[in-house]
Amino acid sequence: MFEHYQDLITDLQNTDLQPWADVMPEQIASGLSEQRFGDLAGWKKALYALPKVSSTFIDLKNGVFIGENGDCSPQIQQEIHDRLADLIPWRKGPFHIHGTHIDTEWRSDWKWDRVLPHILPLKNKTVLDVGCGSGYHCWRMYGEGAKRVIGIDPSPRFVVQFEMIKHFIGKVPVHVLPIPMEAVPSELNAFDTVFSMGVLYHRRSPFDHIKELRDTLKTGGQLVLETLVVDGEFGYSLVPEKRYAMMNNVWFIPTPETLAAWLKKMGFKSIELVDLNETSFEEQHQTEWMKFHSLEQFLDPNDHSKTAEGYPRPKRAVFTAIK
Ligand SMILES: C[S@@+](CC[C@H](N)C(=O)[O-])C[C@H]1O[C@@H](n2cnc3c(N)ncnc32)[C@H](O)[C@@H]1O
Repeated sequence: MFEHYQDLITDLQNTDLQPWADVMPEQIASGLSEQRFGDLAGWKKALYALPKVSSTFIDLKNGVFIGENGDCSPQIQQEIHDRLADLIPWRKGPFHIHGTHIDTEWRSDWKWDRVLPHILPLKNKTVLDVGCGSGYHCWRMYGEGAKRVIGIDPSPRFVVQFEMIKHFIGKVPVHVLPIPMEAVPSELNAFDTVFSMGVLYHRRSPFDHIKELRDTLKTGGQLVLETLVVDGEFGYSLVPEKRYAMMNNVWFIPTPETLAAWLKKMGFKSIELVDLNETSFEEQHQTEWMKFHSLEQFLDPNDHSKTAEGYPRPKRAVFTAIK
């Protein structure tokens, strides 16, 4: 268990989040179990080998920029680069850390630029980011003035990547926990804003996911839901026969109208489609920090309007809604 988890658990005593804090130690132990995750010990070794450097400059408002020239020597900079590289592939970012530019598969900053203008201000808010990956957006939420940001993601590689960034930022109320959404206690009614970005289509039961998100929110709180959508009539939802854009864990891709109806059915109000965007090769691509296939290889080589399986090419929607 990383040290800062204890600070979080202590801070949550006697708050609306105490029921979650009570079960966190057990959940964290399971989510970071070296028996379950054979590579985890190696990733932690890279994390603990990161040089200790004080960062004189941190900007989380315009991106994730850490460190200024003069904070460390070229040798230390190289050591930082090499330990960060031990955690390749890096999917969500980019991060700029003491001279290393982690050029991630995704330009997650572009997604943030599409989301931010449409959401309620995060200043002094308690925020949950479900399926946060490396925690890129958690840092941007904190950069917008959130009082506390909790990210959750069941992938321990991403959790360790988050720890690597936190190593350079230090003790701030931003935490990523190795926990899937299903494990969050029900009926917390505790968060002002809850984000679920890129998760809904990975869930077998979209209604259960929307209900779980609703249950974490205070009444009047805002849900920010970003997911894959397809064109089609009201009520339609694509259920890929096998894979979708080479992903084998995609269950439901609704039309925007269908998704709005799902949110309404689950009791949300003020439901708004605030952004629709077709993913470009510039936004999702192979880089030195993610050397596997990416969007270009996931599409039909002769017709880029279709996925390799013949489905419509990925298009993503951002919805906001109020509990
Ligand atoms: C497509 S990525 C999205 C990352 C980030 N939210 C973004 O929008 O860039 C989906 C993430 O959801 C996580 N995930 C998958 N199943 C989940 C679950 N049941 N609960 C929480 N996160 C989940 C994955 O590990 C992955 O990091």
